[in-house]
Amino acid sequence: MDVRKIGILVLFALFVFSPGIRAQQNAVDAQVEALLKKMTLKEKVGQMTQVTLSMVSMPRPKHSFVNTLNEQKLKKIIVDSCVGSILNTGGAANSAENWQDMITTIQKMATQKTRLGIPVIYGIDAIHGSNYIKEATLFPQSIAMAATFNRDLSFQEGVVTALETRAVGIPWNFNPVLGLGRQPLWSRFWETYGEDPYLVAELGKAYIYGLQGKDHNVARPDRVAACMKHYAGYSVPLSGHDRTPAWIPERIFREKFLFPFEEAVETGVYTVMVNSGEVNGIPAHSSKFLLTDVLRNEWHFGGLVVSDWRDVINLYKRDHVAESEKDAVRLSVQAGLDMSMVPFNCSFAKDLMALVKEGVIPESRIDQSVRRILKVKYALGLFDNPFPRKADLKFIGTPENTQKSLDAAREVITLLKNERSILPLKKSLKVLVTGPTANSRAYLNGGWSYTWQGDDEFYYPKKNKTILQAIQDKIGEKNVLYAPGATVTKLKKISSALKYANQSDVIVACLGEASYCETPGNINDLTLPGAQLELVKQLAETGKPIILVLVEGRPRIIRPIVNKVKAVLMAYLPGPYGSQAIADVLFGDTNPSGKLPFSYPKYVNDLMCYDYKYSEAYDLNRYDPQWPFGYGLSYTTFKYSDLQLDKKQIKADGTLNIHVTVTNSGKRAGKEAVLLFVSDLVRSVSPPTRQLKGFQKIELQPGESKTVRFTLDKKSLAFVNRENKWVVEPGTFKVTVGGLSRTFEVIE
Ligand code: BGC
Repeated sequence: MDVRKIGILVLFALFVFSPGIRAQQNAVDAQVEALLKKMTLKEKVGQMTQVTLSMVSMPRPKHSFVNTLNEQKLKKIIVDSCVGSILNTGGAANSAENWQDMITTIQKMATQKTRLGIPVIYGIDAIHGSNYIKEATLFPQSIAMAATFNRDLSFQEGVVTALETRAVGIPWNFNPVLGLGRQPLWSRFWETYGEDPYLVAELGKAYIYGLQGKDHNVARPDRVAACMKHYAGYSVPLSGHDRTPAWIPERIFREKFLFPFEEAVETGVYTVMVNSGEVNGIPAHSSKFLLTDVLRNEWHFGGLVVSDWRDVINLYKRDHVAESEKDAVRLSVQAGLDMSMVPFNCSFAKDLMALVKEGVIPESRIDQSVRRILKVKYALGLFDNPFPRKADLKFIGTPENTQKSLDAAREVITLLKNERSILPLKKSLKVLVTGPTANSRAYLNGGWSYTWQGDDEFYYPKKNKTILQAIQDKIGEKNVLYAPGATVTKLKKISSALKYANQSDVIVACLGEASYCETPGNINDLTLPGAQLELVKQLAETGKPIILVLVEGRPRIIRPIVNKVKAVLMAYLPGPYGSQAIADVLFGDTNPSGKLPFSYPKYVNDLMCYDYKYSEAYDLNRYDPQWPFGYGLSYTTFKYSDLQLDKKQIKADGTLNIHVTVTNSGKRAGKEAVLLFVSDLVRSVSPPTRQLKGFQKIELQPGESKTVRFTLDKKSLAFVNRENKWVVEPGTFKVTVGGLSRTFEVIE
């Protein structure tokens, strides 16, 4: 039997056969069946329909934090059309109080004015904290969280996000993104946890546990249901443009791209959103292979599958695999979809009803989906209490939650270059702060921040600092000169920047990207815009040392200026407190501990990931990124010693215990992400040179040593073979940690 399936079946059995859970489950099942029996076909297809908030609200004035519902429209959607789900913001973030009022009105309409009183399930994109609630705590974006290599920080992000989202009455979060960041051109690269499947799976699971709780009791008022997305293969469009085709052989698809989703299903994630694009010519919303064969039949996923934005209609309008909108509805439901994010009308419900009446889709198929939707609504406790509680407003944006985001931001910052230990800087130096990302709150956060594109500075709380302000706070305004020198794409009064450079001891050049989200973030060239490179080249002519700070959602090529700067700090999209974290690292109040969760390319056409094959580093070929996956410097040094394995041989289903000693051999305290790689030296499908199979974040005082332990099991050693099955093949394996290696044998 497939080695991975055994694990899933064991968990499944534990779940089904644990008496307490089984009794609860039976009670819910009975309630769902009783309700289902009472429902008309119209009410059923309504449950499968999701519309956007603007369908039930008034036109919204620009720059307001208040959205007003239109009761007539609301009645039309909820009562007349029986719609079961609403999403989105109505254009921009709303105040927490406004959210509570809206959710209360919506739920009153659903539970008090409809025939059966079924509550609405409201969904939102709380991507880095509850980014559509005015007062909420925002976090670093996922690509930045990945650089922490710290499961606990990801868990805490989930906990805070659930608490603050549920506090306004929203019980469903369209996150985490479990796609792999292996195509850096892609505009959603920063929504991923980077290029490695194991890292993505581990941080994604920690986040899901944070949202749902380890017991998955999402009826609690501080929990929400997670929605893993976008299932699957969305993240590697060949063209680099959003929502364009990906081409992934099934073997690689299963081994790398499905892996994090399979792990999340095993964890107990409640819902899944479908890939908005296509893989191997099959739009995911029409893929029975994905939505039924793998998800239901192989993984036994019992939760609900929601479409992405307008993607059922896209099967007709964009992809040309359906003859009409109605045909698109048929294709998606036959593939296994449960709910359509339509989102601007109720055409899905109308078409689906017609398809059932014509006998094209059996009503039993509709019942399947409605059952899954109702079960999630029951699990969320919506039938008992669908209303937010005023008292919960106090949980939003608290100092404790802010502290968690700041703690995360401090572990995000990744030091990539530090020539002659120029960093940390003395606080007495005169500093020129320059570059397009130096004085923006929006650029620190990126997309999904108060607005979809995250590019409107109006919405950002003024109390949060830009990098410039954080540096001024740190060393005093009189020691800081500022001139932007360039926008993201154009030089701007560079003469002022050059003049100030001559008056300064050191230059902090903050480069990177403006905010963007999804398709509007498409680019055709990974190189950092020429104006920014030019700014650094001209600043370098002054002879003053330059510290580069990169605020960007994907690794833009900076090869032409790397040798012109003394230090490089990668900040990714570190969130609202990222500025403080950057200043802390620049001036030595925080010792950096981030490591790259992707390979930072040196050349636009050389986009290799770290788990390359031997042939890619053979003869004249090599892996030659600007900085490799897992790279990141510290202000202290760590020494690895005494790597030990507890056995020389294990069986394919055995376990191997490993330990290694890590010592802080420098002069200051520091955190270190200890990464463990495994190499299968010979196997029937050419092996990657190494793969991440373990990581732990530790903290060490100067001179202190810790023993770090890992356990490898069959999951860590398995790969997908020529028959597309997970297997462990006997042979020699190598374990590598911090430059030390040991081998062991796997025997039959
Ligand atoms: C995005 C999803 C998001 C959905 C709802 C889509 O455009 O692809 O990630 O959850 O919109 O806002």
